[in-house]
Amino acid sequence: LITPIVLAGGKGTRLWPMSRSQRPKQFLALTGDLSLYQQTLKRLAEDDRYARPIVITNSEYRFIVAEQAFECGIELGEVLLEPVARNTAPAITAAVLVAGKDEPRLVHIVASDHDIDADGNYLNAIDTARAAAQAGRLVTFGITPREPATGFGYIEGGEKEPSGALAIRRFVEKPEEEAARAMIATGNFYWNSGMFLFATNVFLKECEKLAPEVFAAAQASIEKAVHDLDFVRLDPDEFAKATNISIDYAIFEKTDLASVVPSPIRWSDLGSWDAVWKAGGADAQGNIARGPVSLHGTSNSLVISEGVHVAVGAINDVTVVASEDAIYVGKLSEAQNVGTIVKTLLEDA
Ligand code: GDD
Ligand code: MG
Repeated sequence: LITPIVLAGGKGTRLWPMSRSQRPKQFLALTGDLSLYQQTLKRLAEDDRYARPIVITNSEYRFIVAEQAFECGIELGEVLLEPVARNTAPAITAAVLVAGKDEPRLVHIVASDHDIDADGNYLNAIDTARAAAQAGRLVTFGITPREPATGFGYIEGGEKEPSGALAIRRFVEKPEEEAARAMIATGNFYWNSGMFLFATNVFLKECEKLAPEVFAAAQASIEKAVHDLDFVRLDPDEFAKATNISIDYAIFEKTDLASVVPSPIRWSDLGSWDAVWKAGGADAQGNIARGPVSLHGTSNSLVISEGVHVAVGAINDVTVVASEDAIYVGKLSEAQNVGTIVKTLLEDA
């Protein structure tokens, strides 16, 4: 069985004001009745290739992680709690150490905030990835780029391996727009989906070599961890020593062992309000309306309210999001601005 490792510690600032540090986007129901985190757990639970998932999150989110799993009837494996946020490399390394503590295992690292269709193409991609991981590769899933996005990793596919995966020639995390355009024009690049599949022993050896401080801090934080109810609290002093770095920069840009499985799957990193809109559900006027809202001649817009009634008049291309204590209004087509707005608000606060 493959052990899933669910990353649930991100902050998701570009979906402000619904996504807040108290309740970031993975815990919000953005595309239906279940939160993205719950949809992720269900997708894994309904597939008999998987063992119970290990969840790794910030200790702030321990109750919401357990509650939302309980709500949809899912039993979790270990829930690892990070005392401070150190990005994905230390978190993944700690979880991989736990997954492989008795014997080497295959693990599938998944983000908790993606919208994915678990159709036949998805299942085929997992099978190919499993075969490549069994052959000792660190596997990524490659999505055909739709635009020169700067928020993703770009993967250049190389020689085909016996598993059907491609050896990675180059991995470029979050390029500038111009570089992204140039890579897309070659036709050989994929977006990194943010999911990884590999054997614990292969990964740990590579991590010890390429990111020794991350490895040492993760290992010490597990050795001194405190078990508290169903939670495993990583040692705060040891974990704090880890470099703040993502798995992409720490390992995947550097390793020679990486492969990519070209994956024609329906996948979206719901990273911004326009991505939420694009994920579907718009009516004939192109509107998505959720919560107590009324639209009057509005078109191509996203209007969400978590409480107060929101009425929108005859305008086009707008995002209105009303949370309990803040309201955002902006152009739907300029959704990336939200990240900048939040940064400014934090600086002013
Ligand atoms: N446990 C834990 N701790 N989880 C974290 C932390 C952390 O400190 N930081 C982020 N996460 C979680 C997020 O909640 C998310 O599910 C996942 O890890 C990825 O982190 P993001 O912050 O969303 O990464 P990204 O979107 O900027 O970039 C990654 O994903 C892209 C695809 O969406 C990279 O892997 C890119 O290469 C990739 O294209
Ligand atoms: Mg993301």
